Amino acid sequence: MDVSEILTGLYSEQGRQNPYPFYAALHEHGPINAVPARAEHSTVSAVAGGYDIVDQILRDPGWYKGFPPGWEEQEILRTFLTSMMFVNPPDHTRMRAVFARTFTPRRLGALEPVIERIVAERLDHMAEAGADGHEVDFVADFAYPVPALVMAEFIGLPAADLSWYRQRVDWIDEYMDVSGKTPERLAQANQAAEELRAYYRDLIAHRRRAPGHDLISGLVEVLDAGGVDLTEEELISNLIVLFNASFVTTVYMFSNGLPLLLDHPDVTAALPGDDELARGCVEEVLRMESPVHFLARSAPAGVDLGGVPVERDDNVLLLIAAANRDPARFPDPDRFDPRRDGPPSLAFGVGLHFCLGSAVSRLEGRLALPRLFARFPRLAVTQPYTYSGSLFLRGIDKLFVTTGEAG
Ligand code: HEM
Repeated sequence: MDVSEILTGLYSEQGRQNPYPFYAALHEHGPINAVPARAEHSTVSAVAGGYDIVDQILRDPGWYKGFPPGWEEQEILRTFLTSMMFVNPPDHTRMRAVFARTFTPRRLGALEPVIERIVAERLDHMAEAGADGHEVDFVADFAYPVPALVMAEFIGLPAADLSWYRQRVDWIDEYMDVSGKTPERLAQANQAAEELRAYYRDLIAHRRRAPGHDLISGLVEVLDAGGVDLTEEELISNLIVLFNASFVTTVYMFSNGLPLLLDHPDVTAALPGDDELARGCVEEVLRMESPVHFLARSAPAGVDLGGVPVERDDNVLLLIAAANRDPARFPDPDRFDPRRDGPPSLAFGVGLHFCLGSAVSRLEGRLALPRLFARFPRLAVTQPYTYSGSLFLRGIDKLFVTTGEAG
């Protein structure tokens, strides 16, 4: 397979279901490769899958995020491009500082009992729904509601609004995918952004009148005190992007992780009570089944990267999920080993835009997984499953299981 065939394969249905053979083929061509002009979807001039080169580019603050032309005309792009995830310094530094201040260890500590309560409630619910051998959808009953309810409490969204909210998250994510840039999807994403902006304007007004202990109340308080350099419209853009970024990613950490863990009964049996193993499982799940498969950056200047010439402003595709299986950094990369030494995976990115919520997701995983297997030691997947149609955010949307409880 040449690089062009690998990329075409990755963007195909087969590639989305199982991209790993394509990543392995790419590693054989070297850590970074020029993208031939004839390759499909070739808006990028090079593709990198080697751990060291992806790590190096992401850590280099000169490499920047490009803005698509005409962005001012689209509500969804206006929203993205006034949020930290999509902007470059100095705006990025200014916005990130505001949020970094609110993601304190104290706030994270306060989240622990919230996660424990939500996990316990969902396990009770699964036990009830799965009594007498009934199949339950692990995603609908656990992988989705745990992060959604945790984040809703953390940010301060009423839980009753979540299903309305979820539809809008889906519209935005569909547009975000590489093959999602159709006029219909753009229109839906614009509508979602418009509705979410109106929603947050109301919520902020409400929290102003009746503050709580949540993130929105805290942010509104510092904003109104004039203590931070952020407009209310920027706050709204950042809240939309923050919740979007927190949502499907963490759902997929759980749903992609379950089959992997169930393939290792010695590990699941040892998980209850072994906090170190729980940490290792979270890291290994994220390495092997990264919810986010790629990022992109543009070059600040012409440069030669391992023999591949890249011009100034060229866009380079960074396959973080391929880097996470780079045999040069992770020996025997397809083997699940929660006790593996080695570099951190790039599942949360690295550098300026390193995931703001990584500690939240890690905590959710570390607390939830041991409790899941303590409660259901005979949990089993009952039906074949598929991965969602997006390589950008790749994960299992439906996963039928039996809890193994007699009822
Ligand atoms: C397993 C779950 C998660 C995964 C795999 C994940 C992955 C990522 C990745 C790869 C990036 C880097 C983007 C880039 O460099 O372009 C990122 C950024 C970000 N993530 Fe996460 N994320 C997860 C959970 C969360 C959670 C729970 C939150 C919120 C509490 C969150 C909020 C953010 C934000 C705000 C950014 C942008 C940071 C910046 O641009 O400075 N993420 N995430």
